[in-house]
Amino acid sequence: MWNPRLYDDRHAFVWRHGAALIDLLAPRPGEVVLDLGCGTGHLAAQITEAGATVLGVDSSAEMIAEARRAYPALAFEVGDARHLTFDGRFDAVFSNAALHWVTDAGLAAAGIARALKPGGRLVAEFGGRGNVRAILTALRAAAEQVGGGVVDPPWYFPSVGEYAALLERYGLEVTFAALFDRPTPLDGRDGLRRWVEMFGGAVLGRVPADRRDEFLARVEDGARPHLDRDGGWVADYRRLRVVAVRPG
Ligand code: BEZ
Repeated sequence: MWNPRLYDDRHAFVWRHGAALIDLLAPRPGEVVLDLGCGTGHLAAQITEAGATVLGVDSSAEMIAEARRAYPALAFEVGDARHLTFDGRFDAVFSNAALHWVTDAGLAAAGIARALKPGGRLVAEFGGRGNVRAILTALRAAAEQVGGGVVDPPWYFPSVGEYAALLERYGLEVTFAALFDRPTPLDGRDGLRRWVEMFGGAVLGRVPADRRDEFLARVEDGARPHLDRDGGWVADYRRLRVVAVRPG
């Protein structure tokens, strides 16, 4: 379960980084945009400032409740990216920092392609191949040491080739794709711990409750040589950014 307050207070970088993706989307007045994985709705609100109409969809009821509270004039729905039911309704599908949570990526790609009008575009950014490698390595090592079992978090980090091929399979034409490092500072001395608590629930949940502190300390120890920059944590994010078009 997501905690929207914690998400906004301690992990606001997630949506703040999305502003550049809105530039790439370049929404126009009158366009209808689906914000897939809209979280607490901040980017959906920014897209409407360009005169577009936005529907924000997120699988978390807590996130959608917070988005509706913050932006009562906008439309938000709880929905699963694997089971989108929209048919040719959107000029654009926009998605920031969400698609790496959808391991059934083919289902999401099929639903996105179907949701677009002919000529409509997908503009998305999420974790790509090699994303959070040092964090993952530290998580796996700590789980082995503390007895949480070997961990495979529910994340999907494809390469450019893999994701472009997937989108093409569902009839989209990829017009831009890039994989790039985006080291991301985490807030505070406990930033890595908070990151694992917020996003690593699938891993942390398998660690016996009375050993979680020790587990988190071991994650910090394992990651420190790679991610501690002068006393501040910098997560080893790698982004896959993609633009694809449904042929007209
Ligand atoms: C990411 O934004 O890269 C990310 C967030 C949570 C878990 C894994 C990756």
